[in-house]
Amino acid sequence: MSYSQPLILAIETSCDETAASVIMGGKILSNIVASQEEHEKHGGVVPELASRAHMQYILPVVQKALNQAKVHKNQLDAVACTAGPGLIGSLLVGTSFAKSLSMALQIPLIAVDHMQAHILAHFIDAPRPGFPFLCLTVSGGHTQIVKVDQSRQFTVLGRTQDDAVGEAFDKIAKLLGLPYPGGPHIDKLAKSGNALRFKFPIAQMPGLDFSFSGVKTAVRYFVAEQTKLDPDFLNHNLHDICASVQHTLVQTLMQKLKLAVKESGLTSIAIAGGVAANSGLRIALESMKENEGWDVFIPDFQYCTDNAAMIAMAAHFQYLAGEFVEIDFQPYARQTL
Ligand code: KG4
Ligand code: ZN
Repeated sequence: MSYSQPLILAIETSCDETAASVIMGGKILSNIVASQEEHEKHGGVVPELASRAHMQYILPVVQKALNQAKVHKNQLDAVACTAGPGLIGSLLVGTSFAKSLSMALQIPLIAVDHMQAHILAHFIDAPRPGFPFLCLTVSGGHTQIVKVDQSRQFTVLGRTQDDAVGEAFDKIAKLLGLPYPGGPHIDKLAKSGNALRFKFPIAQMPGLDFSFSGVKTAVRYFVAEQTKLDPDFLNHNLHDICASVQHTLVQTLMQKLKLAVKESGLTSIAIAGGVAANSGLRIALESMKENEGWDVFIPDFQYCTDNAAMIAMAAHFQYLAGEFVEIDFQPYARQTL
């Protein structure tokens, strides 16, 4: 393979998706995701179960990614894996697997940051944003506004001080009796609800930082009080509650994004991460495109939630930049970006 057309296998195991993807010269050849269903009945990801499931799924998932790409492992130029942030036991499975492959095949190893990869998912397909741009990165573990100057140059302008927005969606969904992960369920029910029926607080944080723990508490008290008056309150009003919650969370994100646009002067705006799949957020951004002339970049659904194609895309840029790691590198649980 040539330097400009590197063939890379990428592995993602940071949370509860075991995923593998093959990329050649920046073009995705395969993208396999096995979502672990073991966590549903627990109402959240159980780290120990996630690690065991990764162990079970990783080999078939990698084999499927290679087969679908019609690539033999001996042809690979490099192997990449998510280094963090995420659940450490889960990360250890993917990183150890990638290290072993790198040693056995004698090819370089690339360590990818999961949050950078969510942002770089925008370069998988056209239309691709030009540099610099702002990216609102919203997932189950993170909420950030990032200024992206180059494919390897990121500045975090603001972040959540407590819960991530995806976590807020999931925790509120849980107290409404919805299954895990709750974000997509709230989104679905919100479609036929009145978003202005109930009012929940929008936290006022300094600068471009966020807070989402207050809204969760507000919903908990609200539901408890109303249920005392009418035991069927939740059942009868679920769609309106979901729509109102989603409206509050989306407005919280949009307020800060508008401020970031004002402060930075940038109007090229991307969203990334699992919550980028939310229809309310997508509609709010589309309206900014029409009303404020923002250039808006919203990734394909399959590249919003956790996947290995985004790890592969980031690995491609790192390969071109010569960013490799030694075999003794350690995964990290906490965000470094
Ligand atoms: O990026 P991701 O797949 O995993 C992490 O890195 O955390 O994000 C998962 C998060 C979950 O909190 C999930 O509820 C949320 O993304 N999510 C949504 C939607 N689809 C996924 N939240 C709101 N609306 C959706 N349609
Ligand atoms: Zn993610």
